[in-house]
Amino acid sequence: MLTDLQKKIIEHTEDYVYKLLKDDASGHDWWHIHRVRNLAKSIAKQERKEINFFICEMAALLHDVADEKMNKTEADGEKKVRSWLSTHPITEEETEQIMDIILHMSYKGGTNKTKLTSIEGKIIQDADRLDAIGAIGIARTMAYSGSKNRLIHDPEKKPREHLTIEDYRSGEDTAIMHFYEKLLKLREEMNTTPGKKLAEQRHAFMEHYLSEFYAEWDGDR
Ligand code: ADP
Ligand code: NI
Repeated sequence: MLTDLQKKIIEHTEDYVYKLLKDDASGHDWWHIHRVRNLAKSIAKQERKEINFFICEMAALLHDVADEKMNKTEADGEKKVRSWLSTHPITEEETEQIMDIILHMSYKGGTNKTKLTSIEGKIIQDADRLDAIGAIGIARTMAYSGSKNRLIHDPEKKPREHLTIEDYRSGEDTAIMHFYEKLLKLREEMNTTPGKKLAEQRHAFMEHYLSEFYAEWDGDR
């Protein structure tokens, strides 16, 4: 369980992240963080293992502050989080545990092959990936694509099989291509048993959504 001091650090961090992300319209807004944190807690409770809830909460709250999409460079993002942590009474070991999770959890078009080793990392990665699929994932994908002036769908454009980091950064995909390049692959990438179960439901919903989408596109419905 959390100590009073840990609770204070979490509250303070919550306030910091809220102010940083509250106006983001590209799918990384505060409510994404809020959902990931709650999903992580719910998975953690089902995972009958020794879990450090302080690391879990802090990494969930800070996981997008260092994201390359939200900073000039990845190094800038890392610096931002490290400097935040250094102004709080957090041990070096805790800092490294948190940094290890947030620097290695991103999907990056499937180009990130680093596997997270800590149980806290596995849980937060599952929670973040769950928020990228299902009904919410669809909404975030459409919002993200719109924020980049990209099309919803172009039947002449085919999804790419394996993305390189250049493909991933090129911004050449439509929202529908993103389903095939990322969203539909995430079910197979879940780390925890509760995460896998939730991913199944969300995956099925996306498949249903896509079949409706194409039927409407073709004028069949
Ligand atoms: P996360 O916060 O889950 O690590 P990302 O930073 O990759 O995810 O992206 C934020 C949201 O925007 C996610 O829901 C993701 O699927 C969506 N997204 C990312 N890249 C694209 C893209 N090229 N087209 C459409 N949606 C995207
Ligand atoms: Ni995220």
